[in-house]
Amino acid sequence: ISLKPFNTFGVEALARKFVDIADEKELHALYERGVFEELFFVLGGGSNVLFTQDYDGTIVKISNKGIQHSIEGNDIYVTANAGEIWNDLVWYCIYHDFPGLENMALIPGTVGASPIQNIGAYGSELMNFFFSCKAFDTKTGAFTSFLNEQCQFTYRDSIFKSKFKDRFIITNVTYKLSLQSRRNTSYGAIEEELIKRNIVAPTIKDIAEVVSYIRVEKLPDPSTVGNAGSFFKNPIITHDKLIILKNTFPEVVFYPMDNGQFKIAAGWLIEQCGWKGKQVGNVAVWKNQALVLTNIKDATGAEIYDVSTKIIDNVLKKFGIRLEREVNIL
Ligand code: FAD
Ligand code: EPU
Repeated sequence: ISLKPFNTFGVEALARKFVDIADEKELHALYERGVFEELFFVLGGGSNVLFTQDYDGTIVKISNKGIQHSIEGNDIYVTANAGEIWNDLVWYCIYHDFPGLENMALIPGTVGASPIQNIGAYGSELMNFFFSCKAFDTKTGAFTSFLNEQCQFTYRDSIFKSKFKDRFIITNVTYKLSLQSRRNTSYGAIEEELIKRNIVAPTIKDIAEVVSYIRVEKLPDPSTVGNAGSFFKNPIITHDKLIILKNTFPEVVFYPMDNGQFKIAAGWLIEQCGWKGKQVGNVAVWKNQALVLTNIKDATGAEIYDVSTKIIDNVLKKFGIRLEREVNIL
């Protein structure tokens, strides 16, 4: 089966087997059949993967749907099945007037993938709203659950990308929101856009709309231009390293982190190396955001990967910083 419709880069790759899971109960049968003893990969919306070759195993696509919530005092627990579209969940919350997720409106992909890389945008991170998830252990065939503190969330990382990589299949996620949570409009671009729109006391719907507008301006729409969002993570460096970097590059864009380290804007590093808007064969660096690689027309995953390697080499040479890929490479 062709995986082209199942990855937002729109690259061609063939999978030996493909199963679509609409109900978590089906996972037991796959386990009994021995599917998880061989090569397999769990796929949501395919918006953070790059297939660089055909896949000689089983793709297990997670499609189970359903959202429900309960309210206890000021706390709201929203549970969504893994196959729900993340943005639909965000709008479910906005519709019910549950604040919290609005800054993460329009992030592509599914609920089930949201904890994997601890998605985040515009001043919010999933780890601040994740309560627990239910997951199928492909090693034992049993369901288990993970609480927030067990997931080891950090910037664009969780236990599901490290120790438990490719082991658990998340079948639902519970988010804990609060009726008292405050609007978060501190991100520069949000503030500016609210002023432009003359909005003084934004509702969560206003924020979601503004964030969605900014995203559409800056990021390519995968339905017309193949991409997977940021291809690289923003690198994190120590204070000492930042001082050295600033000596040579006083303009470097960075953000202080809670742990005393600094996040460097990888988009800035890549732009400084002359890559912004640059095209190599069928691959181009997005003109409005140098962190995003795009498939111009019929690029192969391998071609996109090669361009990412060139970028990593250039940035390393110029700044002494090794960029890490954010996208999952297969
Ligand atoms: P997939 O790409 O299908 O899978 C991603 C990883 O999660 C894989 O390792 C896969 O095995 C695993 N996985 C998926 N579902 C499950 C499951 N149910 N159980 C276990 N493992 C699973 N990300 C951000 O954080 N912030 C952004 O602002 C952002 N902007 C983006 C903009 C664009 C235009 C695009 C294309 C992507 C962007 N991304 C962003 C990346 C992407 O939206 C997220 O990584 C998203 O969580 C991926 O969801 P998915 O369902 O498509 O996952
Ligand atoms: N910048 C440049 N040139 C560029 C791009 C960025 O100089 O081409 C500099 C600018 O100074 C800009 C700063 O970098 O102000 C930050 O850029 P932006 O606000 O676009 O955010 P980012 O750090 O590049 C991160 C996430 C995005 C997320 C945005 C908004 C990562 C790897 N990426 O990008 O997530 O949407 O913040 O919060 O952390 C994704 O993960 O796929 C993704 C799109």
